[in-house]
Amino acid sequence: MFIAKEIQTAAYLFASILFILSLGGLSSQESAKRGVFYGIIGMIVAIIATVLGQGVAGHVYIISAIAVASIIGLLLARKVEMTAMPQLVAILHSFVGLAAVLVGFGSYLDPKSHELTGAAHMIHLVEVFIGIFIGAITFTGSIVAWGKLDGKVPSKPWSFKGLQTMNLLLMLACTGLGILFCQAEGTGGMLYLGIMTAIASFIGVVLVMAIGGGDMPVVVSMLNSYSGWAAAAAGFMLGNDLLIVTGALVGSSGAILSMHMCHAMNRSFFSVIFASGSGNGSGGEKKAIEGEVTALNHEEVAGLLKEAKSIVIVPGYGMAVAKAQYPIYDMVQFLRKAGKNVRFAIHPVAGRLPGHMNVLLAEANVPYDIVMEMDEINGDMPDTDVVMVIGANDVVNPSAQDDPASSIYGMPVIEAWKAEKVIIMKRSMSAGYSGEDNPLFYKPNSEMLYGDAKDSVEKIMGFLKA
Ligand code: TAP
Repeated sequence: MFIAKEIQTAAYLFASILFILSLGGLSSQESAKRGVFYGIIGMIVAIIATVLGQGVAGHVYIISAIAVASIIGLLLARKVEMTAMPQLVAILHSFVGLAAVLVGFGSYLDPKSHELTGAAHMIHLVEVFIGIFIGAITFTGSIVAWGKLDGKVPSKPWSFKGLQTMNLLLMLACTGLGILFCQAEGTGGMLYLGIMTAIASFIGVVLVMAIGGGDMPVVVSMLNSYSGWAAAAAGFMLGNDLLIVTGALVGSSGAILSMHMCHAMNRSFFSVIFASGSGNGSGGEKKAIEGEVTALNHEEVAGLLKEAKSIVIVPGYGMAVAKAQYPIYDMVQFLRKAGKNVRFAIHPVAGRLPGHMNVLLAEANVPYDIVMEMDEINGDMPDTDVVMVIGANDVVNPSAQDDPASSIYGMPVIEAWKAEKVIIMKRSMSAGYSGEDNPLFYKPNSEMLYGDAKDSVEKIMGFLKA
């Protein structure tokens, strides 16, 4: 059974509107669920309209593939931990890149595409070349990003002198191959296409390898954008309008998100895209850390909290790992009932996903009015009695302000050290995701409280109640 072309076009238009509503919904926590729902319906409409489209053959294979893929997707989504979500997103981006590469080769070898003549043929060749180029960069770049986020590849930037020149030369080589490819007769351009694919795959690897852990949020949203452009390119090759629209939506929203992230982290968009050195750090000798590390026990921390009037909690990736948001909110309620001013300070890149901390706190029913953005609360730090840094590290690292050699230099941070007392709750003295040591731990007003965040909060709560 096939549907008429007009019906398919109407269905595509409907799906496009749903995708736009979906993106709109995802812009705030309250409407995010609705946004996801629009996206699901849009995708179902898009798949049905495509599979039932004129000239589509092999329905049994297509439906079987969709069924198997849906089961795998469902199982994976149910199993994946919130903290492993970025890795999942990165690996899904790599699939989009690989799909664009395969569609490109398939489209080039398709005898029908060689029936095209003149400008139409040239445009098709350019689409194939660019589609494969973006797809290959997205594919390998996303695999490296997955490795970095999953801890399989070191998060420290891997770079060398001349990296920019090498990248530029490789880009020029691809442009030359593109010209030769477009001039080749029949399928004679396969060799040029193959070499370009290998070079683009290599560029994808070095581009992401050169970016340090601190800048990973930008990389993930940038690869999201690339995957959108790769999908749009595949849409052009297949002559599928919906794929073009959807790809452009993902591509442009990913690019806007990347720019916002760069702004939040005080990074130049272009220096991150072209991996021109990770961060704003000047390299060279890092500042020696001075001071001594001192630690408290749970009972002493409970004592400090009892005496404090104003308390700020800075959550980070470790809170997500420990799933400590629930006992933390119990403790916050207890302290608020005792008349204390308790608020959360959220850094824009705390955790491993945009809005990671906000989502976790919302999950634990923390009211929005005590959840402050970094810029809103930094000015209040000198008047704060106790700051509890729970499983956070890079986002409270003073080197970002005073050590030009640090890879996170220039990134805005939560100025926890300005408070009267800082309690840092983590399991050891290990560095944050950027790999940078944190001088905050050595400040005279800082105290460590070692242990798993959830376990520690529950113990503190025990002493508070006692
Ligand atoms: P991190 O700098 O990663 O520090 C988290 C700390 O949590 C670690 O030092 C770790 O120390 C501690 N920890 C881990 N498990 C714990 C547990 N069970 N209980 C208590 N503590 C635990 O986190 P952050 O301050 O949230 O900064 C985020 C970093 O990730 C930034 O560098 C950011 O650029 C990067 N990043 C962010 C994103 C987005 S979009 N948000 C995406 C990718 C990367 P111990 O091992 O000593 O416990």
